[in-house]
Parts: sequence; C-alpha cells; structure tokens
Amino acid sequence: MGATVIVGTQWGDEGKGKFTDLLARDMTAVVRFQGGHNAGHTIVVEGESFALQLVPSGVLYPHITPVIGNGVVVDPGVLLRETAMLESKGVDTSKLRVSGNAHMIFPYHQSLDALQERHLGKNKLGTTKRGIGPSYADKSMRTGLRIQDLLDEKIFRQKLEVVLHQLNPVMARVYNKLGFDLEEITETFMNEYRPKIEPMVTDTISLVHEELEAGHEILLEGAQATFLDLDHGTYPYVTSSNPTAGGACVGSGVGPMYIDRVVGVAKAYITRVGAGPFPTELFDDVGDHIVDVGHEYGTNTGRRRRPGWFDCVMMRYARRVNSMTELAITKLDVLDDLDTIKVCVAYEHDGKRITDFPYHQSVLHNVTPVYEELPGWKTDLTGVTDRSELPMAAADYLSFVEEQCGVPVRLVGVGPGRKQVLDFAA
Ligand code: IMP
Repeated sequence: MGATVIVGTQWGDEGKGKFTDLLARDMTAVVRFQGGHNAGHTIVVEGESFALQLVPSGVLYPHITPVIGNGVVVDPGVLLRETAMLESKGVDTSKLRVSGNAHMIFPYHQSLDALQERHLGKNKLGTTKRGIGPSYADKSMRTGLRIQDLLDEKIFRQKLEVVLHQLNPVMARVYNKLGFDLEEITETFMNEYRPKIEPMVTDTISLVHEELEAGHEILLEGAQATFLDLDHGTYPYVTSSNPTAGGACVGSGVGPMYIDRVVGVAKAYITRVGAGPFPTELFDDVGDHIVDVGHEYGTNTGRRRRPGWFDCVMMRYARRVNSMTELAITKLDVLDDLDTIKVCVAYEHDGKRITDFPYHQSVLHNVTPVYEELPGWKTDLTGVTDRSELPMAAADYLSFVEEQCGVPVRLVGVGPGRKQVLDFAA
C-alpha cells in the first residue's frame, strides 16, 4: 500500500475532483499538494453540488483526513469561508489539517497579481488574480509567511514588517497605489483567522507517514495540470507551482518510492482558460457546441474556457513527465451529438511531422495539428453504467486514445454525478 497521485494532464478543469472523490473511498487521507484557491473542484453528491477551492475533495467522506500540504498556498480567509460553507451544508470539517509549512496568501499578493496582469497589457497571462504567483514568488525569495507564523504574533509582525518595508514603496512608485497597513493585516490574521486556523495546524509530514507506515493508502490530489506546470507547462502561460506527479512528492513530503499509482485525468476533448498556445483550439460551431454542452465556464472566475480536440501529442508528454500508470477520461458524454470526432495524433512544423511535444515555444506556437477523424456515436451516454453498454464508436474512440497515448484508460466519466463513472478495471 502506498500513495496514489491524481494529476491533470491538459490545462486544468479536467474534472479531477470527481475522480479524487471516487478514489478517496478507499483512502484514509487526501492531500492537496500545490496551488491554492485558483483551483475549483465541483463534486455532485446526490444532486447537491459542492464547489471546493482549497479543501481537499476527500472532505465529503467522514472516514477521510483531508490535508492541505506544505506545497499549497493558503488564503486563510478563503479557507475559513469554505469550511463555513461546507459546515452549513452539513459536512463535518473538523478533521481538516493544514501544514504549518504551507505559505499564506495575503491581500497584497492578490493586488500584485491584478496589477502585474494590468501592466503586462496584451502580454497578460490571464491568471485567476488570486495572488498565487506573488505568494509563490515570496516563497522562492524566502520572504513569505507560512501558516506556522500565525501561531506567534511577534514573528508574524517581524516578517510582515520586512515584506511591507519593501512592498509599500513599490506600490507607491511603480503602481501609484496606497501601501498595505501592518496593523490592519495583523489584526485580521491574528484576531479573525488565527483562532480558527490554529486547531487545524499540524505536522502533516508525520501525519501522512504514519498513515503510510500503518499500511493505509493515501491520495495526493493535484490541482491545475501538467501543461500549467511551472517547469513542464507552456511557460510563461502556466501557474506558479508543480502540478505534475513530482510536485506531489515535494508538496506533500511523500517520497517517490511510496507512489504506486499515478492517475492522469483528461477530458475527452481539451479546454484552456487564460492565454497561451493551444494547437488543437476550435474557433467554430463545434467549439461552441462543446462549450455549451460541457458548461465550459470557470467554476471560480466564470470565464469561458477555450475548447479544442483531444491531443495525443500532449498526452504522451504528460504520460512521460508524470509516470502515468492510467488515464481517467471525463466528459465523454459531451461529444454525444457530434457526427465525427477529431483526435490529434501528431503536429506538423516546417513540413516535418512531430510526435513529441515541442520544447521550443516558437515551434509550439506554429505547429499544425494532424488529425484522425473518428465516427461519432450519436447516442446519449449519460445512462451507461457499464463498459459493455458503450456504443461501438465510443469504445473505439477510447481504444484509439489508449493506443495513441500508450497508457490504459481505466476510468471514464459519462456525466457529472458520483455514479456516472465506468470503471474499466472492474
Ligand atoms: P494563476 O494560477 O492564477 O497564476 O494563473 C496562471 C494560469 O493558470 C492562467 O492561465 C489560469 O487561467 C490557469 N489556471 C490556474 N488555475 C487553474 C485551474 O484550476 N483550472 C484551469 N486553469 C487554471
């Protein structure tokens, strides 16, 4: 027994929450290992929809210890609003644990995120403006404040003073904005947040290792996705953390030898929010149809997601960098009405066929996708409960993807509900 990692294999919003929720049934702990409230996981349980940003998806099971790992950036206000929302819907959040080493997001991170985007003008990244990048930047600069700093007001003040001493002149001179007030922030963090966060603060490294040493299986829950990874994604159009499987080890404190399963989650097509290259992007009626049927608008920001065809070149890369053991495909039902379905199997650039994802952005921005066109199934899949009930064309589509990407399809989502999942290994 060891750890299972769930990673997004595209540009996020693949529906990881649904599979995290499903796999969590057999786990004792679910650990978020990177990102912050830029994530948005929607889980539908018995008709009730739960939109989670920070709290690990496993919270909906009473037997699970949900853990916010050291690699996450936490806005304490958002965390407390989310736990209050869950409690109001009858979900017990008392088992939630937060790493003392997780960095915090402050109001100035959020402001900086928006200001930096504005200053980038047409080169803006399209961030979620949640302060994610600036908070991770402070972490790298070693000026960030961590959750553990909430527990000692003297240290909290000292560290915040250093930050504001550097930040406030920048706010004034570069951005022509008012600076941030030490007392005001300290008051909110110490009086409002600390009393409620303190009971959650835990040595999460010991916690997860005690679970593993007891022979329990734990789940490491990724947010965002492979192509938003700071190192492996389409830089600079990425997030500021490592959502890939290696990041799961760093952000949870679980060493690689404990990982026995890496589930890559992919939509049956692709979407992207924010700017950046997207070889198989659709600008036509089919794209609009996918957006409409798939309700492709951000859970958090409401932004329309950019749609495109499934891309096996990307998926092969995702398989490699994550050591993916299996693929979980979501939203297959969104393609139900299409006459034909395209799958990108290679790119063309300068007359050459490329099957490996190009590392050079100048190449990636100028590739032309090479498609195989497969017949659609023109059948409502939302009621399908077993692999054997899939129409031939849908089964063929999945086999084609499997063969092209070199990784077995293990789970398939055919609707938003907890039960609308086909388990190919069952
Ligand atoms: P940031 O994470 O807010 O800094 O945004 C950086 C990029 O990642 C932008 O293109 C965002 O749209 C994208 N992004 C961040 N979080 C998510 C997510 O949960 N789903 C999809 N895209 C995301």
